[in-house]
Amino acid sequence: MDRLVIEGGTPLKGRVPVSGAKNAALPCIAATLLTAEPVRLRHLPAVSDIRTMIKVLQSMGSQAEIEPDDEGFEFSAVLKAEGLETAELKASYELLKTMRAGFFVLGPLLGRFGRASVSLPGGCAIGARPVNLHLEALERMGAEIRIDHGYVEAQVPGGRLKGIDHTFEKVSVGATENVLMAASMASGTTILRNAAQEPEIGDLARLLVAMGASIEGIDSPVLTIHGVEVLHGCEHDIIPDRIEAGTFLCAVAAACGDVVLERVVPDHIRSLIDLLERSGCAFTEREGPNGTQLRIQRDCGQKLYAKDIITGPYPAFPTDLQAQAMAVMTQAAGISVIRETIFENRFQHAMELERLGANLRIDGSTAIVAGPAPLTGCTVMATDLRASAALVIAGMVGQGRTEVDRIYHLDRGYAGIERKLRNLGARIERVGGGKV
Ligand code: UD1
Repeated sequence: MDRLVIEGGTPLKGRVPVSGAKNAALPCIAATLLTAEPVRLRHLPAVSDIRTMIKVLQSMGSQAEIEPDDEGFEFSAVLKAEGLETAELKASYELLKTMRAGFFVLGPLLGRFGRASVSLPGGCAIGARPVNLHLEALERMGAEIRIDHGYVEAQVPGGRLKGIDHTFEKVSVGATENVLMAASMASGTTILRNAAQEPEIGDLARLLVAMGASIEGIDSPVLTIHGVEVLHGCEHDIIPDRIEAGTFLCAVAAACGDVVLERVVPDHIRSLIDLLERSGCAFTEREGPNGTQLRIQRDCGQKLYAKDIITGPYPAFPTDLQAQAMAVMTQAAGISVIRETIFENRFQHAMELERLGANLRIDGSTAIVAGPAPLTGCTVMATDLRASAALVIAGMVGQGRTEVDRIYHLDRGYAGIERKLRNLGARIERVGGGKV
């Protein structure tokens, strides 16, 4: 099993490209099931979750042509869901147990074919992640759903979902995306209220519009979708990954340095930029040839100040950056109170950070971090995707050698992270012989 070996204590300097957003690419890949025509998706990040998602589609009969980019951090894919009318339309547990997002195929399959058999997603280390919000809305649209041997068996009598006026009981990224895809081919108009507003949903909605869908209210909490009978092929660029970008910002804030992120949308991570600015980091934005460039500077020896964090649905502070921000706060002077409001068990990185020397306490869904604490290298275990990133950041701060085990979690969502960090001067190696 691969692990990362890090020699800490080196500031980060240089430029780093931000890959396409994994969490936008996953539903966009699922959305290609809505048409028999080819859809070309560019800026797909070269991470294992994306490869798994493409496998899910191929297992149902979609064709995929892959074109890697020069550096190997991203690729393009032409996906064609042609001839699936007689296919089994089954997304198996084998594929979905490692990656929850496979569940995104349910909405498009019901929207286009009126039937699907999709494994319930496997358990997740960061807390219970039910799919009741997805199923409730699809049932209201006319799907008959039963759970059989761990699978959601869904059928639409008459073949076509019908539009509804629906208020989500709770804000959910995945449920908004699944139902948005289903509604784009339903008969009549669907209004989704209390919809999540994450930028990844806007990206999916823009892809659907390019495919011929009619959607009003994109990037707002009320989406109005006028269902159409047929969608067609198109080309689409996936937005830059705000969580990857935010992870690099946290790395520079914690380890110090001067780094320019290339192809980033600063507005998508305004809550993090504000936090780090108030903590003492300096930011500059300018337009470059491949989109906006964001420079972060923190002089080594310059003090960081502790700030409180509360995670919440977009545009509040993202839960997917909470672990990395906690690693930063271990280096900040004062007390930082971090409240996690999205997932109940998302502090597993805290114990590993303590092993590296962090001074913190967990009380339910609140973490209290006292800093700055001198960190020293040791062996730590990655427990989930973003927790792993926090440990890498802490390892780059710590004196001496840190080994991060179980980095298959990291490979699910970060394209060539050790290569990107090495290009910034970090001393970090992958050991174990697996591929990036
Ligand atoms: C997505 C992201 C994930 C991020 C999360 C919150 C993808 C592939 N994953 O996950 O990285 O951490 O948004 O920003 O985009 N809930 C229910 N019932 C449901 C669905 C969700 O109770 O049917 C609850 C969840 O347990 C959680 C909250 O709603 O407490 C938010 O979850 P949701 O927004 O659905 O997260 P995901 O879409 O799974």
